[in-house]
Amino acid sequence: MNIQSLASFPVARPRRLRQSPALRRLVAETQLNVAQLVLPLFARSGSKLRRPVDAMPGVFQLSPDEIVREATTAYELGVPAVLLFGIPDKKDAKASGAYAKKGIVQETVRLLKKELPSLLVITDVCLCEYMSHGHCGIVADGKILNDPSLKLLARTAASHAEAGADMVAPSDMMDGRVRAIRAELDQAGFGDTPIMSYAAKFASAFYGPFREVAESTPQFGDRRSYQMDAANASEALREVAQDIQEGADLVMVKPALAYLDIIQRVKAEFGLPTAAYAVSGEHAMIKAAAQRGWIDEKAVTLESLLAMRRAGADILITYAAMDVARWLRPG
Ligand code: PBG
Repeated sequence: MNIQSLASFPVARPRRLRQSPALRRLVAETQLNVAQLVLPLFARSGSKLRRPVDAMPGVFQLSPDEIVREATTAYELGVPAVLLFGIPDKKDAKASGAYAKKGIVQETVRLLKKELPSLLVITDVCLCEYMSHGHCGIVADGKILNDPSLKLLARTAASHAEAGADMVAPSDMMDGRVRAIRAELDQAGFGDTPIMSYAAKFASAFYGPFREVAESTPQFGDRRSYQMDAANASEALREVAQDIQEGADLVMVKPALAYLDIIQRVKAEFGLPTAAYAVSGEHAMIKAAAQRGWIDEKAVTLESLLAMRRAGADILITYAAMDVARWLRPG
């Protein structure tokens, strides 16, 4: 921008375009739209189960029948997609529940696709919820092994596709998982199933409440040997580039609000459909402050999501998706 060529005050008066709601709407550069929203849901076995989670008001562990109810409400509100997580009955050291034919995610996907065929069902592909130690890969001698974990991740993704998942979203952060998953999907006849990779996923303290819902807290150590260091932006771009080269169709930045610079650079650099995940801790902060009357929940939620859109996010993964859908309704 050449500052010399711009008109200056009193010719220039930016407030001219802020005089009325209609005028402000006319010149708004960014919009929030219900079509951009994805609602995360947590499935566990049982029926009529709706178990609240302390750290996340409005979020529940749901049995498959309740998932269908929740998804139906979301769908009727215009939310086009859900992101499905599973909490298995049993955990072990090879994450058997993650790729079991009758695993909780597989069963729930089948039911969802039967009851709500036009709802997009995206599945989170990870091992941590299914591992007794809570890590996202196979563990040996206190280390999280990369290459042996790829097989299990690929198997998990293929089992989700087989159950009817419309898209798979690997969140483990092992190197090479997108390539392994693409190869396995193609070989199993799911060449049309897109991959949304959690491409720039940071080792973040904002995931705290999620681990309570998903029961996936690591039993030793932390995730810093596979998730990214919050200090790094150039590395995030390399991570994303690598996932794209391996076959990612959409890329995600996670968390969202504290990483808007990453969202912006990823969108500008690669131009792929880019998702922002407003994670559990972001949700919890807004809820907690709103409950105390310190902030306006609706205004702060919408402003945060708009900021992600302004940064370049096309897709917004948010626990508030249903509230947002209601708030965006005309009238
Ligand atoms: C699983 C996974 C996590 C989240 C999404 N997938 C937790 C983690 O990495 O520990 C976090 C989502 C949230 O906080 O809302 N790997």
